[in-house]
Amino acid sequence: MVSRVIPVEVFDLVIFGGTGDLARRKILPGLFRRFCAGQMPSGARIIGAARSDLDDAAYRDMIRDAIAEFGGEQACDDAHLSAFLEQLDYLKIDARGEEGWARLREIMSGEDRIEAYYFSVSPALFGEIAERLKKWGMADADARIVVEKPFGRNLETARDLNRTLATYFDEGQIYRIDHYLGKETVQNLMAVRFGNMLFEPLWNSQYIDHIQITVAETVGVGDRGEYYDKAGAMRDMVQNHLMQLLCLIAMEPPARFDPDAVRDEKLKVIRALDPVDPHHIVRGQYLARDGTHPSYRDAVGEPRSHTESFVALRARISNWRWAGTPFYLRTGKRMSARSSEITVVFKDTPHSIFGAEAGNHRNVLSIRLQPNEGITLGVTIKEPGPGGMRLIDVPLDMTFADALGEDGADQVDAYERLIMDVIRGNQTLFMRGDEVEAAWAWTDPIIEGWVTRNEVPKPYESGSDGPIDSGNMMRRDGREWRKVSP
Ligand code: BG6
Repeated sequence: MVSRVIPVEVFDLVIFGGTGDLARRKILPGLFRRFCAGQMPSGARIIGAARSDLDDAAYRDMIRDAIAEFGGEQACDDAHLSAFLEQLDYLKIDARGEEGWARLREIMSGEDRIEAYYFSVSPALFGEIAERLKKWGMADADARIVVEKPFGRNLETARDLNRTLATYFDEGQIYRIDHYLGKETVQNLMAVRFGNMLFEPLWNSQYIDHIQITVAETVGVGDRGEYYDKAGAMRDMVQNHLMQLLCLIAMEPPARFDPDAVRDEKLKVIRALDPVDPHHIVRGQYLARDGTHPSYRDAVGEPRSHTESFVALRARISNWRWAGTPFYLRTGKRMSARSSEITVVFKDTPHSIFGAEAGNHRNVLSIRLQPNEGITLGVTIKEPGPGGMRLIDVPLDMTFADALGEDGADQVDAYERLIMDVIRGNQTLFMRGDEVEAAWAWTDPIIEGWVTRNEVPKPYESGSDGPIDSGNMMRRDGREWRKVSP
């Protein structure tokens, strides 16, 4: 099987924050891989814009090093790299002042081509950059802007941000990134659900007992302590990535795979979420591990921090399809393994013809998002051998890399896909303003409740799967978490 690569149209992409961490780790290595794949046209230009005093040569050296470090296995040879860097320029710009803007306009005022502006900067600068793009005549109807999370820190700030951007750009020009939507396997959720007849008839509370969504990480907060301690797992992961996964697994089939049809259905899921009862949320904060990893509090330098690095909660969707089927969401740092998985646990058969001694057996569908992307369906069969009918559960296991051969292994990074979608003008995998606001409207009361009650997160051992209360929350419901395994 050979992947089809369709080159995009000629474009100019300006990356504000072009010397920053995201640009060096993700955006530019991703663009380089698309270049190697033959998707980036030779006339395309990338302009790194930032405050530092650099010239083109120094910037290209910086990005050469970044690609060597973060380009991944797919990074191709030196000749390709030099050719790619030829398409890369640097511009010193002051996002809050006037320096550099006249020059940027000059660069962008050439022939007619797609123009995209990537705001890889602090959200505090989004408004000022948007305003300057307008003032300098670069916010024309075809221009696109790309903004990164965090998109606000609550409903009010997200609304402000949406309003500010809407002053200068139409919704159809704004690409809000949630990089989880760019992951191959996350899109596979839609393919599995809506490309197969098998699952959809069973996809409701009549047949599904509950659904678990786990995004477990082994890393700690690293050097992002300052940001993270003001955010916590709820804002950093649940409000965006986990809620997006929840939407894709729970939404009604959209009429078409197009931006508004898909996003309308996701929005309906978020709006149908019940408020979460505080008894069905567990927050945790990781402890140090045998001198090798610092505790959360040491890592962020806040000895009394009440910020959570782990959240587990039970969500309920009040609509016809899902009334009665709980969704359990769990995410945390410094857990036992890096593993993102969605597990659909089906109900018991209505009657066992094999008698009580055959035990209870349930079908369990696991969709592994990372690593070892794939699908496993637990089915019940007869235990081999004589002596009566005993039942056992066995997995029907499909790892995508095995099933797809080289194409399965050669996965496109989320950022590569999303940037190419910006150039193509396809917003399906980006969050619409109303979706982001609805997600905050659901998470705000949860976070406000913690603050009002001055709640302290429960400590958990690094390398464990969160505080014991997380397991207790499930046991109270007569259920248990799936084991977090890599
Ligand atoms: C980011 C969060 O959005 O997602 C990080 O800010 C988190 O805290 C990361 O580590 C996880 O992404 P991935 O792609 O490694 O699962």
